[in-house]
Amino acid sequence: MTSMKAVRIHAYGGADVLHYEEAPRPIPGDGEVLIRVHATTVNPFDCGVRAGYLAAWYNYSFPLILGLDVSGAVEELGAGVTNFAPGDTVYARTDPSRNGAYAEYVAVRAAEVAAKPRSLDDIQAAAIPQVALTAWEALIKAANLAQGQTVLIHGAAGGVGHVAVQLAKWRGAKVIGTASGRNLDFLRGLGVDEAIDYTTTQFENVVRDADVVLDTVGGETQQRSWSVLKPGGILLSLVQAPSEETAVAHGVRQQFVMAGQADADVLTKIAALVDAGKLKPTVSTVLPLTEIQRAHELSQGRHIRGKIALQVAA
Ligand SMILES: NC(=O)c1ccc[n+]([C@@H]2O[C@H](COP(=O)([O-])OP(=O)(O)OC[C@H]3O[C@@H](n4cnc5c(N)ncnc54)[C@H](OP(=O)(O)O)[C@@H]3O)[C@@H](O)[C@H]2O)c1
Repeated sequence: MTSMKAVRIHAYGGADVLHYEEAPRPIPGDGEVLIRVHATTVNPFDCGVRAGYLAAWYNYSFPLILGLDVSGAVEELGAGVTNFAPGDTVYARTDPSRNGAYAEYVAVRAAEVAAKPRSLDDIQAAAIPQVALTAWEALIKAANLAQGQTVLIHGAAGGVGHVAVQLAKWRGAKVIGTASGRNLDFLRGLGVDEAIDYTTTQFENVVRDADVVLDTVGGETQQRSWSVLKPGGILLSLVQAPSEETAVAHGVRQQFVMAGQADADVLTKIAALVDAGKLKPTVSTVLPLTEIQRAHELSQGRHIRGKIALQVAA
C-alpha cells in the first residue's frame, strides 16, 4: 500500500494528540478526486473534533485525519470523474465526517471540488473554502442580504467574519463589525462602515435597526444582540442555536446556520468574486504541517486575525 505523511489523531484530547506520521494514501472512490494537498488551514471545528466535542454528532473512528480546507492539484481521478484532469489546480472543503486534508493527499467528491481562484496562491486559496461557504450560507442563503440593508457582524476579524464582511459589502449592505481595538484598522481595511471595539463599547448601545446580525461568538454577545435588530430582522448564529421564544418576544427571526455540504457551484462563484477583486482572504500565520500542535494552540486562543494556514507541499 502506498503511504503518505499525515497528521492523525488516535484518541480525543489536547493538541498533543495530533501526530505527524505515516498513513495509507487514500484511493479515490467512484466520483472522487484525489488531491495532492499544497495547503490546508486550521478551523475551530478541527479543534472541536480533536477535543471530542463533536463525537455525538459524527461517527468517527481512529486513526482520524482532520482538516476541512484544501488547495492543491488533482493527482488521480476516481471512476466516472470527467470534469477534472490530473494537474488541475483546485480548492475544496472536505466532508467533515471523513478523513480530511492535514495530509499529503485527500480524496474528495468531485461535486465538492472547484477550480482554485487564479489570483491566489495555494496558502491564500486554502484560507477560503470553509469560512466562505459558511458566510455564504448565512448571509446569502439564510438572510438573502440585500442592497441597503444593515448587518452587524460579530467576530469580524476572524476567519468567517473577515470573509462575511467582504461578502456583505459586495451585496451592497451597510456593515458594522466588532473586534478588539488592535483589529479595528483591519476591519476598516476590509470595508466596514463602522468598526466597534467590543472591549470598550457595548455594541447594543450604538447599533440600531439592523436587518441582520451574524453571531460568530455566542454567549452573552448573542444575548445582547436581540435589541439591535429591527422588527422582522434576523439573528443568525454559527455557534449556538438562538432561542425561538426570545426571537418571538422581540418580533424578530432566528436561525442556527451550519456550513452544510460543500458545493462546487458556490465555490466557483466565490472564486469568481476573488478573481474580480471583491474578496481577499487574510492569512496571518503560516506554519508547516509538522507544526500542527502549535497551530491548534494558536487557534484555540480565539484571537486569530483571518486564518492560520498550514503549508503541506511547495
Ligand atoms: N455552524 C457552522 O457551520 C460553523 C462554520 C464555521 C465556523 N463556526 C463557528 O463560528 C465561530 C467562528 O469561527 P471562525 O473560524 O471565524 O473563528 P476564529 O477565526 O477563531 O475567530 C477568531 C476571531 O474572533 C474574534 N473575537 C473573539 N471574541 C470576540 C468577541 N467577544 N467579540 C467579537 N469578536 C471576538 C477575535 O477578534 P479579536 O482578536 O479582535 O478579539 C478573532 O478575530 C467558531 O465558534 C466556529 O466553530 C461554525
